[in-house]
Formats: sequence, structure tokens, C-alpha cells
Amino acid sequence: MPFDIPVIAIDGPSASGKGTVAQKVAESLGFHCLDSGSLYRLVALAALRSQLPWSAEAALGEIAKTLPVRFHGGEIILVNSIVTDDIRQEACSAGASIVAAIGAVREGLLERQKAFRQAPGLVAEGRDMGSVVFPDAVLKVFLTASAEVRAERRLKQLKQKGITAKLPVLLQDLRERDARDSSRSVAPLKPTQDARWLDTTALDVDQAVNQILLWYQESR
Ligand code: C5P
Repeated sequence: MPFDIPVIAIDGPSASGKGTVAQKVAESLGFHCLDSGSLYRLVALAALRSQLPWSAEAALGEIAKTLPVRFHGGEIILVNSIVTDDIRQEACSAGASIVAAIGAVREGLLERQKAFRQAPGLVAEGRDMGSVVFPDAVLKVFLTASAEVRAERRLKQLKQKGITAKLPVLLQDLRERDARDSSRSVAPLKPTQDARWLDTTALDVDQAVNQILLWYQESR
């Protein structure tokens, strides 16, 4: 294992902007980027396509381990088809959160995630990046923001996609998801003790990215 290759782990609640921030930090440093949630979404998509029930835990674990997936030029390719947009569909979001609670799936994805650790470095985004997958990450960031601000950001994002939504509904949805994510027994939403908190309620994306880059320089 290339333990000398630096990893920056970023976690945080839903709609905290961790995906965008992780990608920008990776771009600034010329690092690879792992969106670990996409792997859980891919397992869900593969299960849905082969009509496998969520109760088939061993088979889902096998899918997680052997899934023929490639990440290429911003696209995600499963077997021979581009599934970048498919995995963002609501059915995959719901399925991902179900398969993410299955131990065999988490186990099956472990080595696959570790393999993303390649020179010159990796920014890994998602739930257990700093606790389980890369416990020796040089920097662990817990990115958060008030539920109100996160709901507003989500609303803006949806508007840009031409989707109408109501702020109170989004806010309620986020609060429920926070509660569910924090209380689940498998990989709950919880910062590691050595994580640095970054509250982005009053920060824009670039300010958040710059703070992380500063912390990274300090950690070297
Ligand atoms: O981040 P994203 O919404 O793509 O994650 C999809 C699902 O996978 C969520 O339910 C999330 O909790 C779960 N997940 C996880 N561990 C990770 C990344 C995502 O349990 N490292």
C-alpha cells in the first residue's frame, strides 16, 4: 500500500457542498478525486438492473467487489455503458442508502476505494473516508453548514436544472436525512476526533477550497 501518498478526506452532511469542494481541491493540487458515494450508487444500479432484491446481501457484496466499472474523463462507465447520469436518479439514491448499510457491500468496496490512492495524491470524499478507508489521511475535514443554507443551495442547484422545488420541503427533507444519517448503526455521519470542522454557512466554494488548501499546506 502506498502509505506515503497523501490523502485528504472530506466528509459532511447532505448538501454541504463536499462533492464540489473535494473536486476543486483535487484540481488545485493535481490530485485524484474519489467520490465514494458514486460506488454505492453503482452497486444499487447494478442490483436494480439485474433485479436483485436488497435482501440478497451476499450477492450485493459480490457485486461491490467485482463491479466492472471505469472512471474516464468525468464519465462513469459500467460494463460498456455510460451511467454518469443514471446513478444520480432517485431510485439509485434510495438504493445506495440501502446498500450502504450492508456490511458485505462496505467490505466489498474497501479495496476498490483504497486503490484510488495513487500519486501524487488523493482527495477522498464520503462517509467513512477518514475513519475506515484512509485512517492515516494527512488532513480530515468535516464540511458543514446550517440546514437553512444547505436547503437554499440545493434549491438553487435544482432551479439550474429546471426542477421546481419548495424551500420548506427541502429543509424538512434535509433535517430528516441528517437525523437518519447520524443515527444509523453502519458508518454514521460523525466527524472523526482528528477532523477539522469547516462551517461554510458564510463561505462560498472558493473560500472553503482555500481554507482546505491552507490546512493541507500546514500539515506538510
Ligand atoms: O454522497 P452520495 O449521496 O452520492 O451517497 C450515496 C449513499 O451512499 C448515501 O446514502 C451515503 O450515505 C452512502 N455513502 C456511504 N459511505 C460513503 C459514501 C456514501 O455510506 N463513503
